[in-house]
Amino acid sequence: MKGSMSYWVTLIVIVWMSVMVRKSKGVRSIKDQVSQFVEDRVPLGTKWAFLVAGSNGFENYRHQANVCHAYQVLKSGGLKDENIIVMMFDDIAYHPKNPKRGVIMNRPNGPNVYRGVPKDYTGNNVNPRNFFAVLSGNKSATIGGSGKVLNTNSHDSIFIYMSGHGAVHVFGLINKGDIWAADLVNALKKKHAALAYKKMVIYIESCHSGSMLENLLPGNIGIYATTASKVNENSYAMYCPGTPYSPPAGITFCLGDTYSISWMEDSETSKRSTHTLYRQYLNVAKRMVEHIDPGYISHVMKYGDTTAVWNDAIGKYFGDGSARLVNKISDGSAFSYEHFNTTRLVKQDDASLLHLKLELEKAPHGSEDKSKAQKELDDELARRKHEDHTINLIVDLLFGEEKDSIKMDHVHKVDLHDVDYWDCLKMLWKTYQDHCGILSPYGKKLYSKVSVNMCNVGISETQIIAATSQACPIKNHIS
Ligand SMILES: *[C@@H]1O[C@H](CO)[C@@H](O)[C@H](O)[C@H]1NC(C)=O
Ligand SMILES: *[C@@H]1O[C@H](CO)[C@@H](O)[C@H](O)[C@H]1NC(C)=O
Repeated sequence: MKGSMSYWVTLIVIVWMSVMVRKSKGVRSIKDQVSQFVEDRVPLGTKWAFLVAGSNGFENYRHQANVCHAYQVLKSGGLKDENIIVMMFDDIAYHPKNPKRGVIMNRPNGPNVYRGVPKDYTGNNVNPRNFFAVLSGNKSATIGGSGKVLNTNSHDSIFIYMSGHGAVHVFGLINKGDIWAADLVNALKKKHAALAYKKMVIYIESCHSGSMLENLLPGNIGIYATTASKVNENSYAMYCPGTPYSPPAGITFCLGDTYSISWMEDSETSKRSTHTLYRQYLNVAKRMVEHIDPGYISHVMKYGDTTAVWNDAIGKYFGDGSARLVNKISDGSAFSYEHFNTTRLVKQDDASLLHLKLELEKAPHGSEDKSKAQKELDDELARRKHEDHTINLIVDLLFGEEKDSIKMDHVHKVDLHDVDYWDCLKMLWKTYQDHCGILSPYGKKLYSKVSVNMCNVGISETQIIAATSQACPIKNHIS
C-alpha cells in the first residue's frame, strides 16, 4: 500500500515536472526545476529578525520610529518576540519633547508603533560589540541587554533591517562606534560558513547605504539585500513638517524615512504569501524615483542573491499573518506618490536642522525655550562649521596642491577585498576622534569621503597623526 502510494506521488511529480519544463520552453534545466519544486514545498525553519536603529536624540525620531514600525510588521506577520531582536536607544517615547508621551508614530495620524516593542539592547548597549554578538549568535559575547541573539540553524530565515545615519562604508551606532562594511560582510560570510541560516534578507536605510554592500556581498551565500541609496547618495526623511504629507501642526520632526516607509507600507498593503521580494523591490524603487527633482534622488539598490531569494514571497521572512495586521492603512492618510512633492525631500542630516529650526520658531518670544532652542541650533551649526574647517584643514596640510582631488565627492576605485584598505580607514577615523573629538553624522559623511580617497592614495599613519594633531591642538569637547 505504502509502496504504491509513493509510486503514484512520484509519477504525478514527474508528469507535472515535464509539463512545467515544456511550459518554460527549456529556459530552466530540469535540475533547477526539481530544486525549485522541492524548495517551494519545504518550509523554512523559524523566522528570525534583527532590527537596528543606529541613532538617538529627538531630532532623529524617525529612525527608531521606523524600527518600531518594522517590529509591528513582523509581529502582525506572526513572528514571535523570542525571534525578534530589537536594538534601539529608546529615548523617544518618553522624551520631554514628545507631544504624545509613550507614543511613537511612523506616519501622520498613524497607530502607536511603540506598543509591545521588545527592549533587547537599549541605551549604551547599542554598540558594535553587541551588534556583532547578536548577528553571530554568540550570547556570551553580549554585554548588557537581554542576551537575545540570532540563535539560528540551517533551516531558518533571517531578516535584518537597519535604519540610521551612514557615511561611505559606515553605519553609525549612536556615539558608541560604527559598523564597517567589511566587518559586516565578513560576519555574514562566517554565519554562512557556520550553516547558521537557510536564507537571509537585509534592508538598510542610511545615507551611502549602498557602500555597505556594493562589491562586497557575494551572490552565492543565500543573502539578498537592498539599500535606500547608492554608494554616493543621501537617503531621505519622510513625513516631515512642510511636505505634502506633513505631520499635524506643531510637530517639528520627521516621522519616517522614504525607503523604510515604502517597504513597510508595501508589506502592509499586499498579500504576503504571494507578493515577492522582487515585486517589493520594484514598488519601493518606483515610489522613490517618480516625480523627482534630480538633485534629491536616492535609488534603491539590490545586492547579493537576486535569483533564488528574490523570487521568494515576502511572507517567508516577514510572516504571512495579514489577518492580524495592526497597522493596516485605513484612514486614507497613507502616502500616494502621485501627490508627493519630492522637491521638498529632506536629507538625513538636514532633518535634525529642520527640527531645531522649527523648535526655535515654535517657542514663544522671550521665553526660556526660545533661548534654549536658539542655543541648540547655534551649537549644531557651529559644530558643523568646525567639522568642515577641521577636515578641510587636514586635507590641505597633507595634500596642498592636490587637495581638490582628495575632496572630490566620488569614491576612487579601490580593491575592497584589500585588508590594508580597511585598516587604513579605521586608523584615520581613530586618529581623528582621538585628536578632534567624536564626529557627528554630518562630519562622518564628510570625513568618510576624504578618508576613502586618502587611503586610496596611500596615506601613512605618521602623516595623518601629524596633520590631525596640528589641525586639532586642543581636543574638541562637544560630544
Ligand atoms: C563568543 O564570545 C566569547 C566572548 O567574546 C568568545 O570567547 C568566544 O570565542 C565566542 N564564541 C564563538 C563561537 O565565536
Ligand atoms: C513642489 O515644491 C516646489 C518647491 O517648494 C514648488 O516650487 C512646486 O510648486 C511644488 N509642486 C507642487 C506640485 O506642489
